[in-house]
Amino acid sequence: MLKRIAIAVLGALVGWAMVVIPVRAETVQGATLFETHCVGCHINGGNIIRRGKTLKLKALEKNGYGTEAAIAEIVTNGKGNMSAYRDRLTSEEIQIVSAYVLDQARQDWRKH
Ligand code: HEC
Repeated sequence: MLKRIAIAVLGALVGWAMVVIPVRAETVQGATLFETHCVGCHINGGNIIRRGKTLKLKALEKNGYGTEAAIAEIVTNGKGNMSAYRDRLTSEEIQIVSAYVLDQARQDWRKH
């Protein structure tokens, strides 16, 4: 009986880990990608070149970048003084960093 419970608990834990760990890894990868490729101009979700074009939720929504797809588009193709990343990042990496940006914007770029 005890053994069965132990197996059930273990099974639940493994199932949980399989769901949670990949999500967590993507967040970490997103942060790393952002720190490597974006933070130079977008420190703390700001924009050191074009002051109004920040990565804060309000600005993103106002400028038409309130979705992951729209963010991925500007990262892929660039715009103005922001260069295109299609030759430097894979489409998967672009997806991950775009999701990270939107996620951070929703949390108001709070450190956590
Ligand atoms: C060389 C500086 C520079 C780097 C590096 C850079 N950006 Fe930008 N980014 C800009 C500038 C300048 C704009 C404004 C473009 C425009 O609308 O003219 C911008 C705009 C944006 C916007 C739209 C913001 C808005 O409110 O309109 C997003 C989203 C964005 N960048 C994401 C990223 C991501 C993600 C990375 C890293 C993969 C990155 N940027 C790297 C300079 C940079």
